[in-house]
Amino acid sequence: MTLKAFMAIDKDFILAEVDPRIYGSFIEHLGRAVYGGIYEPGHPTADGQGFRQDAMEAIRKLQVPIIRYPGGNFVSGYNWEDGVGPQSERKRKLDLAWWTTETNQVGTNEFADWAKKAGSEVMMAVNLGTRGVDDARNLVEYCNHPSGSYWSDLRISHGYKEPHRFKTWCLGNEMDGPWQIGAKTAVEYGRLANETAKVMKWVDPALELVVCGSSGSGMPTFAEWEATVLDLTYDQVDYLSLHTYYNNNEGDTKNFLARSLDMDRFIRSVASICDYIQAKKRSKKKIHLSMDEWNVWKTIGSSRANERWQIAPPEFEDTYNMEDALVVGCCLITMLKHADRVKMACLAQLINTIAPIMTETGGDLWLQTTYYPFLHASMHGRGTVLHPVIRSPKYDSKDFTDVPYLEAVSVYNEEQGQITVFAVNRHLEEDLQLDMNLRSFGKARVLEHLVLEHEDLKASNTKEHPGRVLPHNRGNAAAEDGLVRAVLSKASWNVIRLEVQPV
Ligand code: AHR
Repeated sequence: MTLKAFMAIDKDFILAEVDPRIYGSFIEHLGRAVYGGIYEPGHPTADGQGFRQDAMEAIRKLQVPIIRYPGGNFVSGYNWEDGVGPQSERKRKLDLAWWTTETNQVGTNEFADWAKKAGSEVMMAVNLGTRGVDDARNLVEYCNHPSGSYWSDLRISHGYKEPHRFKTWCLGNEMDGPWQIGAKTAVEYGRLANETAKVMKWVDPALELVVCGSSGSGMPTFAEWEATVLDLTYDQVDYLSLHTYYNNNEGDTKNFLARSLDMDRFIRSVASICDYIQAKKRSKKKIHLSMDEWNVWKTIGSSRANERWQIAPPEFEDTYNMEDALVVGCCLITMLKHADRVKMACLAQLINTIAPIMTETGGDLWLQTTYYPFLHASMHGRGTVLHPVIRSPKYDSKDFTDVPYLEAVSVYNEEQGQITVFAVNRHLEEDLQLDMNLRSFGKARVLEHLVLEHEDLKASNTKEHPGRVLPHNRGNAAAEDGLVRAVLSKASWNVIRLEVQPV
């Protein structure tokens, strides 16, 4: 018997506008993300500033609106002044987050240049591990103040007449984690974050600030941390961060594919905590969520560089396979389903380090399986998310009950007269017939049905075989009046693009 699922897509079921910043990413001074990733003077494709153009091109295609920088754990020991001024005079420093040597050849100004070339905004992070209010306000003054003060004039003397005008800033990183340089209790962090935020906004009132939530929902202080920190910072901050990583290291694919249900629960829990503090404070202000680290991460927890103090050693260069791409797809769908609350998200990370884009130092570049769902969502997932009204057969797995075989959401782009349905069939053996009722849209026409699938869920793209897992557009979606039917192959990622005319 055919497995069947149903989805009602109605133009009046408006959930929220997609904030394009949910297609953000992250570049940390970690492994070969910066050195050997985006920056490699001497590479055949390097431009005058040493930026690899092959990497730039692959990143531009992803249309990443915002990129978090410079960390991550790295930022908690980083003195930003080491990374500005003439490159020849920059000091080498020990990076205690990853036990490497940081050459400081790329710093704030180079990254701002690079991001501009990549078509992205920068989400800056300040160091609240070893530092505090003073350095944060100096950095804002250096980056964003036009001129006429010590730090802004220093920037101008470094060749940057125009301020960078970075708008979005993270108040430290994962400050609850014992691995963090200068880790803090919720009260210690909350007080520091509040004072830092206040003063940063005095320097530049246009800033939007992200305060650290827990470094994961599995942390022993999770929930209490969020409540305490928000209680202490509510009036000064705009977003609360969420971090989450998944993997199938236990080798249970059914359970792994259900991991986005954990992300869903995490988002709901953190949103509830925000609302609780809002109620407690009788505030009209709503705190939104920034999922500013999320991905599949298989090498998580593996030791820092085996041999200490190397310069940009390869770190966390995970190879992603077909099932990892499905989980990335399910996570993207999950965040879209919470578009009313999740306003920013950063795929962690973008290049070489737990990343969809890989480079060989001095050589070629290849795209991992996870590049494709992210590309598709970023390209076609802009507009209004419509409430997903779905009926799907379900299964139970080790950690989850009632896992729908169909994970799906639709995004309506009124301007273009298009709807995109993103859908994953989680079933490992069977195809799933999906009937979509577009009752309020009148006639629909299928523009394209993209599919990412592979017989072998462990298949991946590598330097030697970069084209093993590629999307194709031979999906079978077909429209008849207001009904669209597609048979989603087992374990597949689907992008069904429709042209519609609302009646
Ligand atoms: O993204 C890699 C690391 O994961 C980041 O530096 C840290 O914030 C998280 O633990």
